[in-house]
Amino acid sequence: MNPPPGPWQLPVIGSLHHMVGALPHRAMRDLASRHGPLMLLRMGEVPVVVASSAAAAREVMKTHDAAFATRPLTSTIRTATHDGFGIVFAPHGDHWRGVRKLCVTELLNARRVRSFRGSREDEAGSLVASVAASLLDDEDERKPAVVNVSALVAAYASHATVRAVAGDRIGDSEAFLASLDEGVRVVAGFSLPDLFPSSRLAHALSGTARRIEAVFREFSMLMDGVIEEKRARRSGAGDEDKDILDVLLRTQDQEAAGGVPLDMGTIRAVIRDLFGAGSETSSTTLQWAMSELMRKPAALRRAQAEVRGALAGQSRVREDALPQMPYLRLVIKETLRMHPPVPLLVPRECREPCRVMGYDVPQGAMVLVNAWAIGRDAASWGPDAEEFRPERFEDAAPAVDFRGADFELVPFGAGRRMCPGINFGVAVTELALASLLFHFDWELPGGARGGLDMQEAFGITAGRKNDLWLQAAVHVPANP
Ligand code: HEM
Repeated sequence: MNPPPGPWQLPVIGSLHHMVGALPHRAMRDLASRHGPLMLLRMGEVPVVVASSAAAAREVMKTHDAAFATRPLTSTIRTATHDGFGIVFAPHGDHWRGVRKLCVTELLNARRVRSFRGSREDEAGSLVASVAASLLDDEDERKPAVVNVSALVAAYASHATVRAVAGDRIGDSEAFLASLDEGVRVVAGFSLPDLFPSSRLAHALSGTARRIEAVFREFSMLMDGVIEEKRARRSGAGDEDKDILDVLLRTQDQEAAGGVPLDMGTIRAVIRDLFGAGSETSSTTLQWAMSELMRKPAALRRAQAEVRGALAGQSRVREDALPQMPYLRLVIKETLRMHPPVPLLVPRECREPCRVMGYDVPQGAMVLVNAWAIGRDAASWGPDAEEFRPERFEDAAPAVDFRGADFELVPFGAGRRMCPGINFGVAVTELALASLLFHFDWELPGGARGGLDMQEAFGITAGRKNDLWLQAAVHVPANP
């Protein structure tokens, strides 16, 4: 046995003490700079192998993709999925294969994502209207009005996702979104019982399991209400598929989804997974894109000039104009390079003993790919890797993309478990960014350019720790 190298470990906590006080993806990058691109940690009882370079990521997600195509079933995930597996945390096997096929070929393919364009454009219109409304609400006329960009884009991404999944109306959509938000929060991160799976004490001490159960019970009840409402509105065989839930219910009626029986537990779980995986990731990307643009006035000006040029004479952003905005696409790509919303990707597990880069990875080890470290690796990106420079995709790295073939840029992962929501995520993000840049001029409050707080929050997604507040002024008024 030749295990990957790693830092020294303590008897009970393993390598956890090396992670204290820093966000996991940052602590792991620092450890990798000392121990190498494939390293072995122990989080409590759990062996964790971390890939931190493009070459190591290629080994995990391409060369040995089949060996790493399952997810660890931690106690948090077990509790969260006791009702049934959707896709994100489903173990490798027939259920996952069937649901994934359904997602890729039916629910999230490019044609289906295009068909949700109308509701996305409506939601982008509402986003613009809410920015304008919060400017009017600001009572003190002597000071320039400030807007909580984080809150508004988070609401936009949630609503755009809800509408793609469940159509126009959800009875109590605020309660639904709040419950979903809570669900994502409890599943995120390493909880105590996950690190010490065999310790009854840890289970007794941790209220996580009870909290997860309560959150998911509530979510299931709300979900059942949405499904029943939808069923009542569907009239029968000739119904058109307007949203993802329509497709799921039709598939259920046809009694086969690539061999996977679509019971209610699976439908609930798939919907929960699509909400969970889709909304926070897109919102996080938007918030970082706006943050980085505020720190790079030249990039902001160029993106804004492009958007306004492409839409000259128009009063709102329509998706069919987005192909005329190539720089905007580079801004999003550069944002995903520096701020992959899921910095360690979704954990995988080693299904069989496997030799990677000359090291033995033990069966059962959790495997993390540090997409955040890989996106900032000077070996791949050069000495300015830490600088936000969308132009690098025009000069230094024109061919590099995030669609799973280039391992130096893996915000959506790669291989069998790669994100199937990439088209949807990019569409939601591009439309909102174009809308914010078209309708408003943006400034940092007080004009303090260098000083924008860029701290990240702890969690499975690395969003901003503190909300992004910006000064805005209307350039093109929103439609009445
Ligand atoms: C900027 C937006 C997004 C980012 C950065 C992102 C990122 C990711 C990542 C890193 C993974 C794990 C990949 C791996 O293990 O190799 C993943 C999985 C997944 N994503 Fe996304 N995602 C985004 C948007 C979406 C959207 C909009 C949806 C659906 C509405 C979605 C649905 C999923 C699903 C279902 C999986 C699990 C796939 C599986 O386990 O087979 N994602 N995503």
